[in-house]
Amino acid sequence: MEQIFITDVSPRDGLQNQAVQVSTVAKVHLIRLLFQAGVASVEATSFVSPKAVPQMADATELLRQLNIAFPTLRRSVLVPNLKGLERAYNAGAKEIAVVLAATQTMNQKNINMSLDAAVNASEETLRAAREQGMRTRAYIAVAFDCPFEGVPPLNRILTLARKMFDAGANEIVIADTIGAASPADVKERLTALANVIPLTQLAAHFHDTRGMAVANAWAALEVGVRRFDASAGGIGGCPFAPGAAGNLATEDLVLMAERSGFATGINLERLLDAVDFAEIELKRPLGGRSSTWLRRQREKKIASVSGANVLSSSPAYVDSQPNR
Ligand code: COA
Ligand code: ZN
Repeated sequence: MEQIFITDVSPRDGLQNQAVQVSTVAKVHLIRLLFQAGVASVEATSFVSPKAVPQMADATELLRQLNIAFPTLRRSVLVPNLKGLERAYNAGAKEIAVVLAATQTMNQKNINMSLDAAVNASEETLRAAREQGMRTRAYIAVAFDCPFEGVPPLNRILTLARKMFDAGANEIVIADTIGAASPADVKERLTALANVIPLTQLAAHFHDTRGMAVANAWAALEVGVRRFDASAGGIGGCPFAPGAAGNLATEDLVLMAERSGFATGINLERLLDAVDFAEIELKRPLGGRSSTWLRRQREKKIASVSGANVLSSSPAYVDSQPNR
């Protein structure tokens, strides 16, 4: 069975925008539940200005605890500049992600830099991280649509992606930050990107604002992309991108992929434990589009005296090896 690789970004993209301040202990527990569900890679936090994103002010302490508790879990951290990289390095980070938006205004709003300055900052951060032996990811944010400038030209996306690749990014993450892409857009842009970046190093990051995230993930799969970001319970959104709703829910992606013949290494029933926990912490209902059905399967399993097979009869619930 062909494997897809999922980075669960709920601890970072998911939590950064939440009104409720989540404690470090709770963040570690969320990540523990994800790990126990078979998630092999998370985006754990970001080393950004605590004034810009107060929710991530505990990045150093959180990463220190994760390094001890889950040494085999891939735990990427977002860094916008060299200062962020230095903080991440001092906290023992082994993997970082830089964030380059595809438009002037989005870079200005997000990291207070022009597009050119953001390219330079991302390149120098990637190079410095590679010198430290770190694994690196580079986001191309608003790659399909920008809330301030509209659709960025495809050629610009190709150029920016290639620059990040040449600066040493191991993974180029094409992000639909505001969830505006259609499957046709995804097919067009990712097919073009696959001509300039090896498919094995391309990843897709979708938001579900218009209900098209799963369809977009399928379009990316059809192009040949096998790396995806997703967020347990669909929690997420960028505080600096108006209109950005939650991310593609990890449970939706896992269910769709496994029902379509791909292995994810993630156990959906265990993943629901993480969604339930996040729901309690954030004090509001969470869950992707499949979560009502998934929870019903779990209830049936619990309620059934003899029906212990209700869940395991569904391929989506079959335990497989984590995709480390
Ligand atoms: N981590 C923590 N503090 C940082 C930092 C980082 N990575 N980079 C800069 N700072 C500090 C500086 O030391 C300075 O501190 P001081 O006021 O105590 O002297 C202050 O932030 C301003 O520094 P400056 O270089 O002028 O930054 P800025 O005000 O132009 O802000 C960013 C730039 C990138 C730090 C800020 O916009 C940011 O953190 N953005 C995060 C965006 C984000 O997380 N978006 C969501 C993810 S896509
Ligand atoms: Zn996002």
